[in-house]
Amino acid sequence: MSEPRDRGTGKLAGAAPADDRIIGDQQRHWVETFTANPEMYGPEPSEPGRHAAACFVAEGLSAVLELGAGQGRDTLELLRRGLEVHALDFAPDALADIAALAGPELVGRLRATVHDVRRALPFAERSFDACYSHMLFTMALTTEELEALAGEVHRVLRPGGLCIYTVRHTGDAHYGAGRSLGDDRYENGGFVVHFFDRPLVERLAAAFELEDVTAFEEGDLPRRLWRATMRRR
Ligand SMILES: C[S@@+](CC[C@H](N)C(=O)[O-])C[C@H]1O[C@@H](n2cnc3c(N)ncnc32)[C@H](O)[C@@H]1O
Repeated sequence: MSEPRDRGTGKLAGAAPADDRIIGDQQRHWVETFTANPEMYGPEPSEPGRHAAACFVAEGLSAVLELGAGQGRDTLELLRRGLEVHALDFAPDALADIAALAGPELVGRLRATVHDVRRALPFAERSFDACYSHMLFTMALTTEELEALAGEVHRVLRPGGLCIYTVRHTGDAHYGAGRSLGDDRYENGGFVVHFFDRPLVERLAAAFELEDVTAFEEGDLPRRLWRATMRRR
């Protein structure tokens, strides 16, 4: 599963300048929001974070790539469960804060990389046992960019490796509200969300076995999400 990419930038060939502008705005927005809210999602791990950590440990997996780690509530949980975690996000200060929060006991198993997931992942093929991502796939990315990202996750996972990711779906109260950016993406309060329908989950799993899709809710709104589990063939 590979997508055509621009040789110079590693970006998907044909990515529109409008989408570059959207992502640039989103990056600034996330950096500012994290700076203003040092515990935006609270200090406790999320439910999918606990679930993913338990699954990875139960399968005896070790090297985990976390996409969109944010302020690290789930990164810390993965580390506490004994996993090696490579946390990736395009918000540099948030990643630096995770290293500080991890402290001397956990930091030895933490790596962090500042990276925009619209570009090829900066890792060798088959270098991770698992990938975990809470609410990164549901950001401002277009369907084309998401397909390329799923291809990259497939490339860096070992055969049999697990990918557990979460997304807001079209049953969410905010679906259709705010400014439409096309491709089921809506901007609300400065944040852009791509709301998934079931065919999109299946499309991203084309080169994987889609093992499970579980609906859950998070927060006061509440956000309505799916947790998708797919295994690399
Ligand atoms: C909704 S937050 C979730 C953070 C964290 N997973 C959690 O649940 O606490 C989404 C995260 O994705 C990051 N992000 C959004 N678009 C990104 C992109 N194109 N490349 C890398 N990170 C991105 C944001 O900086 C933010 O940390």
